[in-house]
Amino acid sequence: MSDDSRTDPLARAVVLISGSGSNLQAFIDQIEGGDLPLQIDLVISNNAEAYGLERASKAGIANRVIDHREFGTRDEFDLALKQAIDEHQPDLVILAGFMRILTAEFVQHYAQRLINIHPSLLPKYPGTDTHNRALKAGDKWHGVSVHFVVPEVDAGPIILQGRLPINAADTAESLQQRIHKIEHQLYPLAASWFAEGRLSIENDQVLLDGEISDLQLQSFER
Ligand code: GRF
Repeated sequence: MSDDSRTDPLARAVVLISGSGSNLQAFIDQIEGGDLPLQIDLVISNNAEAYGLERASKAGIANRVIDHREFGTRDEFDLALKQAIDEHQPDLVILAGFMRILTAEFVQHYAQRLINIHPSLLPKYPGTDTHNRALKAGDKWHGVSVHFVVPEVDAGPIILQGRLPINAADTAESLQQRIHKIEHQLYPLAASWFAEGRLSIENDQVLLDGEISDLQLQSFER
């Protein structure tokens, strides 16, 4: 890691995953490329099989498994998660495909420093199966939202959205693939805005450099 071009980190983060971790990889790549002034101190997965753990190890990032099945209640699991995260006192906690619903207490503990990415143009389609739902509804646009997390699932002030037109030939799979590519650009971008101190929240609305910016809704063609 000595010959990479990373810049001095402006913020330290803990990333929570459950699966492949392609978004985690996008963070790692951008940090190593010098485009994202973030340092990932720890990756936590609730799933020991998550490929993202390997991605973290390859990048030299500390990682650990906290398996939700080993806890009797959601409160107990979230407490263990919170303790592991708080050992690092991160500026930012990033949910990157973390497939557990978090308690209100946990979410409030990280108020305004906990972010998530969701594959729909929120407030449309919170929850699962977003690509099929957009197709079935005959939507012209589908996309992805990066947002601050609040206790209500897939709600919370939106930092950044990316949208793309739904093509006649699109299937749920093709949409998922197209959207995944956008995620890999937009999630690190949102994190860079956070790290640079450019985000604020006013009346549940996220401002970039003190205003609602065109940069917060980006359109992609393919
Ligand atoms: C992404 O599609 C994200 O929108 C959703 O979970 C998925 C995670 O993918 N929250 P990956 O593990 O980063 O590849």
